[in-house]
Amino acid sequence: MRVPQNHILVIFGASGDLTHRKLIPAVFDLFHQKLLPNNFAILGLGRTNHSNETFRQKMRDGINQFALKAPENEQQLNDYLAKLHYYSFNTKDKSEYADFRDHLIQLDRKQGTNGNFIYYLATPPSMYEVIPEQLAIQKLNNENDGFKRLIVEKPFGYNLDTAQKLNKDLLQYFQEDQIYRIDHYLGKETVQNLLVTRFSNGIYEPLWNRNYIHHVEITSSENIGVGNRGDYYDGSGAMRDMVQNHLLLLAGLVAMEPPALIDSTNIRNEIVKVFQSLRTIKEEEVPDYVIRGQYIASRIKGKPVKGYREEGGVDPLSRTETFVAMKFFIDNWRWADVPFYIRTGKMLPTRVTEIVIHFKPTPHHLFCDNASIASQYNQMVIRIQPDEGILLKFGMKVPGAGFKVQNVNMDFHYSELSDTYLPSAYERLLLDCMLGDSTLYHRGDAVEAAWKFAEPILNAWKNNPDIPVHGYPAGTWGPDVSDDLIEEKNLTWRYPCKNLSNDGTYCEL
Ligand code: BG6
Repeated sequence: MRVPQNHILVIFGASGDLTHRKLIPAVFDLFHQKLLPNNFAILGLGRTNHSNETFRQKMRDGINQFALKAPENEQQLNDYLAKLHYYSFNTKDKSEYADFRDHLIQLDRKQGTNGNFIYYLATPPSMYEVIPEQLAIQKLNNENDGFKRLIVEKPFGYNLDTAQKLNKDLLQYFQEDQIYRIDHYLGKETVQNLLVTRFSNGIYEPLWNRNYIHHVEITSSENIGVGNRGDYYDGSGAMRDMVQNHLLLLAGLVAMEPPALIDSTNIRNEIVKVFQSLRTIKEEEVPDYVIRGQYIASRIKGKPVKGYREEGGVDPLSRTETFVAMKFFIDNWRWADVPFYIRTGKMLPTRVTEIVIHFKPTPHHLFCDNASIASQYNQMVIRIQPDEGILLKFGMKVPGAGFKVQNVNMDFHYSELSDTYLPSAYERLLLDCMLGDSTLYHRGDAVEAAWKFAEPILNAWKNNPDIPVHGYPAGTWGPDVSDDLIEEKNLTWRYPCKNLSNDGTYCEL
């Protein structure tokens, strides 16, 4: 494996949750695998007053709790922590950037990191307007003396307008190839495996189109609520938080054409083409295509759980959706008239992300009466998390007299590969950025195309309060009406369990 060039990872917003739960542990995992360069440092920035020592102490806890690789010994952990530095400054105050620059340059000289810097914006999005501009004013975007890369966390805008403005602003100060828009779903091993499954196997690709696929279903459910993110979430909702980015991305990877090459430009070109082919759901069509819901108080395993409106930071009369189910079409040669169904929600029965490809039934039903035709839809389930793997469901003869057919499972679980280490999404993506590979990061045009599709839906909800927000008891699969989206009467969503092979009402508790 290639090791990146010497550099400093500069984290804006280093006193926040993301840094100590995800970023620092992920970089530790790289360190553990000897994937960091010899000269490497992390410079955390934030308003909180930390010394290097108190910052390191906090990050030590983060590593112990969240790193995938347990430290081998105290010495190894200390060696890593010694690479962490902290500089306290108010990133809102433009007058403080000159001092910050001096501090960074000094650290660079001391560490021998050759002027290579990655800036990670782990701040509230309002800071995206200030930081890149100030870095540019201080000439910290200039690549004459080492690479300068900028990682931007979601949300990339709040709607099409703000996303376009953000892209425009960023491009004033950094070139597109310096900008890395992170979507942690692209960092998941199983999401990348979608490309390999589709494009390295001769058996699937011939069937992967409107002639053989009846519909595609994508679910990303969570069994937790909004926790302490009520403030953010209430202004966002599931459409902005999950659909506009993660779920459309999954649909893009399922639907894209084979790229000419596995590289950043080619893969991202194909994803954009899918987004540009999404059939617009007009405002007046929204009630027929999209269901929104919000969890209400209930009991789970005997314990009372709060409704969304009782969560901290949430307006007690909020109409923000914590659940979305929708149907849409991709108007291109491969997918014309194949419905795509996507569903996501908080406080559902289990945490699962999966894609289900429903193949068309045989044209002639030799072995069954009409009532059981539904069971003849062969399915391929691509499980993103947990119990990562792939499941094929197909008909088998029940032993004995006659020709009774039963659906059976053939499954592959990553966990069966005993020596396989699945890196965390942040670990993979940070390493890619360090290596200068933006394949698994979003390009500006894809972000805008996704907003273009999501916007009429958000507008319809905003402009038309008669479109219901269905309440669903926490711990259930969301509003029942989401089943009505599926065109065929005898079909429903797959109701997945924690284990890949199980589904339906009876799952392990
Ligand atoms: C984040 C959303 O982008 O993705 C969260 O902001 C959500 O609300 C999370 O919980 C889900 O990610 P994962 O990796 O747990 O499926």
